[in-house]
Amino acid sequence: MTKLQKAAKPEVSMSAMEAIQHRRSVRDYTPQTIDRAVIRMLLDAAVHAPTAMHEEPWSFAVVQDKNLLNRLSDSAKERVRNEAQGSDSHHAKRSLELVNKPDFHVFYNAGTLIVICNKFQGPFGKADCWLAAENLMLAACAKGLGTCVIGFAVSALNTPEWKAELKIPAEMTAVAPIIVGVPASETPPVPRKPPEIVAWK
Ligand SMILES: Cc1cc2nc3c(=O)[nH]c(=O)nc-3n(C[C@H](O)[C@H](O)[C@H](O)COP(=O)(O)O)c2cc1C
Repeated sequence: MTKLQKAAKPEVSMSAMEAIQHRRSVRDYTPQTIDRAVIRMLLDAAVHAPTAMHEEPWSFAVVQDKNLLNRLSDSAKERVRNEAQGSDSHHAKRSLELVNKPDFHVFYNAGTLIVICNKFQGPFGKADCWLAAENLMLAACAKGLGTCVIGFAVSALNTPEWKAELKIPAEMTAVAPIIVGVPASETPPVPRKPPEIVAWK
């Protein structure tokens, strides 16, 4: 079985190390909708993340309405455009280049977006949300699903308009938007540098 065949079968399961090694940021999805039971399994994996002082600061917004996803993509592009314009940074230039492509969709036409929101202002709320995010992405990978964090959507998601539309309470902060879907093609690995060890005493 090729890696793609393995990835396209949602029932596939992997060891933790296999999931860590196989996870990719997937940007090409089939139109197949993910059912609610699978999403609940991913959310359950997310809430098993470690959490400082056992605060469990996360809440989740799930968006599967195609029209909403398209509108949110347009809003996100508009905000990235406005925020990046006039900046000289490499990041801003690269972001502008991407969002100005006419067919660029910030969610790559994935059918599901899960937004992990932080309920509390404590020092580790965001860290907890990111740990939940990685749990969710590894669980998805172990089940043959693709995911990608969509940082481009964070700014739009935290506007009062989008919070109201998605029923995210005003006091919460959208931290980690993650798309989920069935990969339509194989995503090659993005190489990593070896771990840099500054101290080992
Ligand atoms: C905080 C964060 C924000 C990201 N935002 C985006 C994004 O808006 N769009 C995108 O295509 N990928 C996004 N990514 C995915 C990274 O580009 C990706 O993780 C990186 O290139 C390494 O590739 P890999 O995840 O396949 O190993 C984001 C990743 C992180 C951690």
